[in-house]
Order: sequence, then structure tokens, then C-alpha cells
Amino acid sequence: MLKNPAAKYRAFPPVRLSDRTWPDAVLAKPPVWCSVDLRDGNQALIEPMDIPRKLRMFETLVKIGFKEIEVGFPSASQVEFDFLRKLIEEDRIPADVTIQVLTQAREPLIRRTFESLQGARRVIVHLYNATAPVMRKVVLGLDEDGIVDLATSQARLFRELAAQQPETDWVFQYSPEMFSGTELAFAKRVVDAVTAVWQPTPQRKCIVNLPSTVEHSTPNIFADMIEWMHRHLARRDSIVLSVHPHNDRGTGTAAGEFAVMAGADRLEGCLFGNGERTGNLDLVNVALNLYSQGVDPGLDFSDIDEIRRTVEHCNQIPVHPRHPYVGDLVYTSFSGSHQDAIKKAFAARKEGDVWDMPYLPLDPKDLGRSYEAVIRVNSQSGKGGISYLLEAEYQLELPRRLQIEFSQVVQGVMDASGKELSAQDLWDVFEREYGLKTTAVPQHQVLEEQRTAEGGSIVALAAQVKIGGRAFGVRGTGNGPIDAFVEGLGRAIGESIRVLDYHEHAIGSGADARAVAYLELRVGDRTLFGVGMDSNIVAASLKAIASGVQRARAHQKETTWQTN
Ligand code: KIV
Ligand code: ZN
Repeated sequence: MLKNPAAKYRAFPPVRLSDRTWPDAVLAKPPVWCSVDLRDGNQALIEPMDIPRKLRMFETLVKIGFKEIEVGFPSASQVEFDFLRKLIEEDRIPADVTIQVLTQAREPLIRRTFESLQGARRVIVHLYNATAPVMRKVVLGLDEDGIVDLATSQARLFRELAAQQPETDWVFQYSPEMFSGTELAFAKRVVDAVTAVWQPTPQRKCIVNLPSTVEHSTPNIFADMIEWMHRHLARRDSIVLSVHPHNDRGTGTAAGEFAVMAGADRLEGCLFGNGERTGNLDLVNVALNLYSQGVDPGLDFSDIDEIRRTVEHCNQIPVHPRHPYVGDLVYTSFSGSHQDAIKKAFAARKEGDVWDMPYLPLDPKDLGRSYEAVIRVNSQSGKGGISYLLEAEYQLELPRRLQIEFSQVVQGVMDASGKELSAQDLWDVFEREYGLKTTAVPQHQVLEEQRTAEGGSIVALAAQVKIGGRAFGVRGTGNGPIDAFVEGLGRAIGESIRVLDYHEHAIGSGADARAVAYLELRVGDRTLFGVGMDSNIVAASLKAIASGVQRARAHQKETTWQTN
């Protein structure tokens, strides 16, 4: 790179528009959407779509709700021509959808374009020629007058050819290609000359499309350019003002939104931002930005993953995992503090509340996404994410101190493997750590229950216990079955056991319902949790005690445990 980039590159000149109004505008309704996936998007593919793929893309666009779809450049190739004929002859264009086709301002191409449109019900025919100084000088070899002559002569040809096919309802569209690099006064001159030929009216408007063919400036400057055109164009009341932002600086979405705030009525772009080079404006992004502000975009992305799969199939380009609204990772939080906040916000949220969720600008469910991916666990995660996944997938409501204890266990596993853990992996770790398969209390029986003078009771209990592969019997007494079991088990293993805290809840319902007990225990000098599950609540608690004892033993390998 150059030490002095100014020796090679110039700053884009700002527009003198001190009374600009667009910064105060609020987007309260959607623009007219036009998808150019089948034209701009298609021409940018390594392998352009074949007819089956084009058809699939067209049908997807229709299903999403696009009413204006640029379906191709019929004079460019036989496939493009044939696709158009197929749509028209097989009557595949719904009555409320208008197809659009592009042609360069060259007579043979325009004639071929109108030929491809025989029998169509309604069409937007889109004429373009380059207007920027670099194109005038280097590519076309024309001065300003020459460009105006070119555009107006071909605009006249449009009128003539359209008049020869009166069965079609024609809408004319003109793009000064490279508007983004064209002097504003000259852009106005060309556009005014073209609309003077077409003579649109407020009832029969034409479309003037202003492309940032190459995005050269910050989006505020593009917005100034659009506001300037919006204010200065002749016949503005007879024009649908359209913009066609590309994304060379990565600000295509902002440019499109600002342009609508600045007076544009219509947006051209592609699904997920496909298109030449860095792509066109991402229509999904803009539509869902509106949606997340409470504005119905009039486009349906209720099953965004299905749309993404189709677009990936048609374009043969994968969508990036971080792509706004659709990427695999965009609703996922790995960071512990994010997870904690999301978990709390989900718990506090009531059905019908306004969406106000940390780290989630939009409810993934609205796009057909589940909450499963919202929280994923890796080495950055904390107890919030871990307990969220165990609750969401396995209905375990871990008490807070157990969350902290278990997150340290998970951290150890993660540090060793360095890998992300799925909900299933977490369950496996939980099951292993709390001995859900290796500890058991296969039988327990209350032998005797006596009332005390104070109104309490004394229970004698016998139980069979399996801890760490060893089975033995326990007999104890206490003021209830748990107390009696603790006393008997403590004596059996020669350790003091105390129950410090107790939580339980049900999992499932009806005949399948089970109880989960989480007991915080003091075993010898260790404080830890045990977990037990059983259809019987007392059995679940006894298992939780056995689980805690097994864990204490596992953590004190050097101690030789005796069973008395
Ligand atoms: O980017 C562009 O300038 C175009 C025009 C043909 C509209 O795609
Ligand atoms: Zn383009």
C-alpha cells in the first residue's frame, strides 16, 4: 500500500445541499421492491443459472411477495431469451407480478428485447447507458451531447416498438449507468431528456433508476445525490424514483435506506446481497430492518432458511454464517454475559410483550428459526448458557449454586477439548458428573414411624444403595425419610453428611412424569450438589444424596471408604 494514498486516490466530492431534509426522515412504509436476482445477480455468478434454477428463483421471489422482478437481459444470450419465452408462453407470471427486462441503449439489442416480449401482459422495459465521465471518455468516446443523443434516440425507439405491441401494458425505465460517478447536473440533463421523450404522466409513470453502479462515497453523500435529483428532476410527479445500490464500500444497505429517506420510492437489489463484485443491496436486510422497527415490509421471510437454501442452490454461493438475519450464527451468543442477559430476558418476557431482548434485534421465531441456536456453549460461555440449554432441551431447572458448580465442571471439559459443546454433550457431562447412571437407591422402605411428644416424627428406614459400583444396605433413623437415610448412609461410609439445601421439580407430565431433586450437601468437609431423578419424589431425593456422596468420594480418591 502507498504511504500517501492521496497520490493515487481522490476523495469523493460532497454535494452542496445544506438544506438537506433526509436525515430527519423516518422510514414508516416499505419502498416498492424490485428483485434483480435473475439479472444483476445472475450475471455475477461464476456459473449463471440454467433454466430450472432460474425458474426456481423466480418462483421463490414470487412466493416471497415481489411484485416487480427483473427476469433477465433477453438480448444477451439464448438462455436469457428462452427463459423469458418460457415464462410468457407457459403463463407462469402471476397477474399481480410485473416482469422487468434490461437492455443496453443499442438498437439491435432493443429490437431483440421487444421480440422476446411478444404476448406479455405487462412489462417494465429497462434502458440503460453509461453517463459517468470516465465511461464517456474512455469507453463510449462521446461527449455530453453525444450521450444525450444516444439516450433519447433509443428512448424514442422504445416508444415506437412498444406501439407495435399494443397488447402489452408497457412501463419504461431508464438508468443513467454509473449515476454514482456522474456529475449531478449532467445526470439530470440526460434523465430529463429521456422523460421528455417518454412523456410520462402521474397516471402512467415511468421509472428513473439511479444506480450506484460502483459505490464511491459514504452513504450520506449518496443520499444527498438522491435528494438533489428528487428535488430537481423535471416531471417528478410522473416518475417512480428508484435506486440500485451496489456494495463496494460495504454500505449498500445504508445507502439504500438513506436514499429512500431522501425521496426514492423504489429499491432494486438481490436476496442476501448477491450481485456484481461485492453485490447489490441486500433486499432481505433492508426488509427485515424495517420489520424490526415495526414496519410490515410486504415481503414474507417466515421460512428464511428455506429461502436461503433455495438461493444457495440457485446461485451456488453459500450465505456467510454472520450474514444479517439469516446466517447460521446470527442469533447465537457464545459469550457468558450475553447468555446470562438473554436467559434472564426470556424468563422475564410475557407473551404479547414488545420485543426488547438483549442481543436479539428480532425474534428468530418470526423467521422460522428456533431458539435452540440462540445460546451455544464454548469456552467463552458461562453458567447462563449452560443452564439455558439444559433447561430448554432437558427441562432441568438447576438452582443457581448448582449452575455455578456445574459450569466449572463444563469449563474443565471445554479447556481439555477446546470444542463447542452441544446440548446433548452437556447432558452427557451432567449425567456423568452427577452419576445419574452409576448411583442408585433401588429400594427403600420406611420400617417404622413414631410420633414424638413435640408433635414431630421419628422414622426408621432401610434402603439398598449403589455408589460407585458398590452395593450395600443402609439402615437409619431421623425425623423423616431423607434424614433417616442421611444418618444411615453416613454411618455406613464413616462420613458425616448434612443436607444444606433442597430443590425439586417435576419433568414431564402424566404417567411419564418424573421428579428431579437437587440437594446441596456437606459430605465430610466438602460442600457439593447431588442430583437424583425418579418417578417417586422420596426416591429422587435419596438418589441425589447418593449422587452427592459418590461425587465427594470421586473428589477424595485418597480416602479409603469403608462401609460399616
Ligand atoms: O449497476 C448498474 O448500474 C446496473 C444498471 C444496468 C442498472 O446494474
Ligand atoms: Zn447493478
